[in-house]
Amino acid sequence: MSLGHRLLLSLPPETAHEIGLAAVSRGWLGTVTVPERPVESFGVRFRNPIGLAAGFDKNGVAIGHWHRLGFGFVEVGTVTRHAQVGNPRPRLFRLREHGALVNRMGFNNEGADALARRLEGSACPIPVGVNLGKSKVTALEDAPSDYLYSFRLLAPFASYVVVNVSSPNTPGLRDLQQTEALRAVLSPLREAKPETPLFVKVAPDLEPAALEEIADVAVELGLTGIVATNTTLGRPGLGSGVPEGGLSGAPLRPLADSALETLARLGTGLVLIGSGGVMGRDDFHQKVRLGASLVQVYTGFVYAGPTFVASLLA
Ligand SMILES: Cc1cc2nc3c(=O)[nH]c(=O)nc-3n(C[C@H](O)[C@H](O)[C@H](O)COP(=O)(O)O)c2cc1C
Repeated sequence: MSLGHRLLLSLPPETAHEIGLAAVSRGWLGTVTVPERPVESFGVRFRNPIGLAAGFDKNGVAIGHWHRLGFGFVEVGTVTRHAQVGNPRPRLFRLREHGALVNRMGFNNEGADALARRLEGSACPIPVGVNLGKSKVTALEDAPSDYLYSFRLLAPFASYVVVNVSSPNTPGLRDLQQTEALRAVLSPLREAKPETPLFVKVAPDLEPAALEEIADVAVELGLTGIVATNTTLGRPGLGSGVPEGGLSGAPLRPLADSALETLARLGTGLVLIGSGGVMGRDDFHQKVRLGASLVQVYTGFVYAGPTFVASLLA
């Protein structure tokens, strides 16, 4: 581990995140060489199937630099229609001995308009996904128009769009995973721009029957695929005393893998993007074996640093 990375991990987690992101956005980390592992999925070419998961570069500030660390794609956001500050700090916690993080950020972001301006003004050599959420000030019943606003604005800059209905840190958001509510959010987007590849991101805490219902809606509406999964409200193997929020990293992997497997077994033809607990090569390969066409990482990258993607592809 480099001295810089060790230093970052000695700082409070959100401070470390801010400094790390600033370093990437200024190109200070240099370029990491990774093996070429080209894949094509939903008509998009990727230099490799490993992407940066949503939430790391919420505002797209480092959009022109992620390819230098070997990423095959990057998902910006979650972005909401209205800019918002998120929850009070502290809201990001390391469980280092478990290879995990807990966060309750609450969609802190500069808003859809700001992200659109940034994406318009920056070139990104790898595919960019845009992850959309509901603004906190928007009532749950008005969620469809909130998502639609951001979608219309940002779809022109996106290789694909993800509708995030699975973050545990916006009250009521996960209720939008229920069939009727989900249809109400997704179908206006599908009608507005049928040509934009569209995904829904699901929670790892859903029963197989609920996942199947979501997959049914996705197929019915002609979605491209599903991102499985977001963070968990569960605390598998962690005991008590863990802060409130969504858990990511190693302890999430069995839950995320099981959701991915459930979705793959349905044989729907939906594209599956695997996310949750990829801390090393075996975890990456397991996601692919289970049926993921693309794989995203967040917590593993935080702990392993700039050479993480290279280590997964080695
Ligand atoms: C600090 C933090 C912030 C996150 N923010 C978002 C977000 O804004 N939107 C989202 O869809 N997922 C978000 N996630 C979830 C990740 O995108 C990913 O799905 C999850 O962490 C599981 O992957 P991992 O185990 O590799 O971290 C966040 C995760 C972390 C740790």
